[in-house]
Amino acid sequence: MDISDQVVVVSGGASGLGSACVQHFWAAGANVAVFDINAQGSHRIKPQSSHGKIGFYDVDVTSVAAISVAIEAAASELGDIRACINCAGIAPAGKTVGRDGALDLEKFRKVIDVNLLGSFNVLRLAAEKMLELDPVNSEGARGVIINTASVAAFDGQVGQAAYAASKGGVVSMTLPIARDLGTRGVRVNTIAPGVFNTPMMEAMPDKVKEPLEQAVQFPKRLGLPAEFAKLAAHIVENDYLNGEVIRLDGGIRMTPR
Ligand SMILES: NC(=O)c1ccc[n+]([C@@H]2O[C@H](COP(=O)([O-])OP(=O)(O)OC[C@H]3O[C@@H](n4cnc5c(N)ncnc54)[C@H](O)[C@@H]3O)[C@@H](O)[C@H]2O)c1
Repeated sequence: MDISDQVVVVSGGASGLGSACVQHFWAAGANVAVFDINAQGSHRIKPQSSHGKIGFYDVDVTSVAAISVAIEAAASELGDIRACINCAGIAPAGKTVGRDGALDLEKFRKVIDVNLLGSFNVLRLAAEKMLELDPVNSEGARGVIINTASVAAFDGQVGQAAYAASKGGVVSMTLPIARDLGTRGVRVNTIAPGVFNTPMMEAMPDKVKEPLEQAVQFPKRLGLPAEFAKLAAHIVENDYLNGEVIRLDGGIRMTPR
């Protein structure tokens, strides 16, 4: 699908992988709607006249009302929403039973709420909007949705029960959503990143980061956010890619710790 002059919604677009997607699609001529609670991060992206339009929406992906309003606003301010990339996420760690006792259920719930329900909340409302549009080609294509899971969905580490469960949910919902929307011209795919050099990772101490780099098969480094954006762009462009979960991880297989 050609995305120039169309709208791409990017949740979590103020930082890391989402921010790389914002830059990539924007430079490619799309109008981009950034959905994020981090308004400060959003303002680091500087509008350039040669690029498409960009809109910042200070919204929490878990809010039904706020996302509903933001989708309407993005459509009226920026144009037809043809792509939705879900990057908003959190990754707090916590063992099932740690030094202070059993993991607080509210902490577990919060991770599911943001990573799983938040992704579904944004995509369901973006998809509803896509279905109102005329197809862009004779095959009936109307739009594309990309979710972000994690390799933790497959090999979650110690302390990642909540995070792995949330990302496992994102992986599992990919095919049924693709089936729900496929008859109406919307494709759905999920990227499962390995370890990427974003603020989420920068917050981790070197003693955590270095072994992760060594565990990558090749190349032995963290992934670059631009490499994530390139795959997202390929998914948007390639009309035959649907219902799939793609690992983007340099061949890493996570060890227990
Ligand atoms: N960085 C990695 O190594 C890595 C690996 C696997 C998966 N991922 C996943 O990729 C996605 C992006 O990660 P990142 O590394 O770019 O993280 P990041 O922390 O750099 O960016 C995440 C963005 O999401 C936003 N966000 C968080 N909660 C939100 C909410 N409730 N509503 C709206 N926005 C919210 C944050 O403000 C931030 O701008 C996440 O879903 C993460 O789980 C990252």
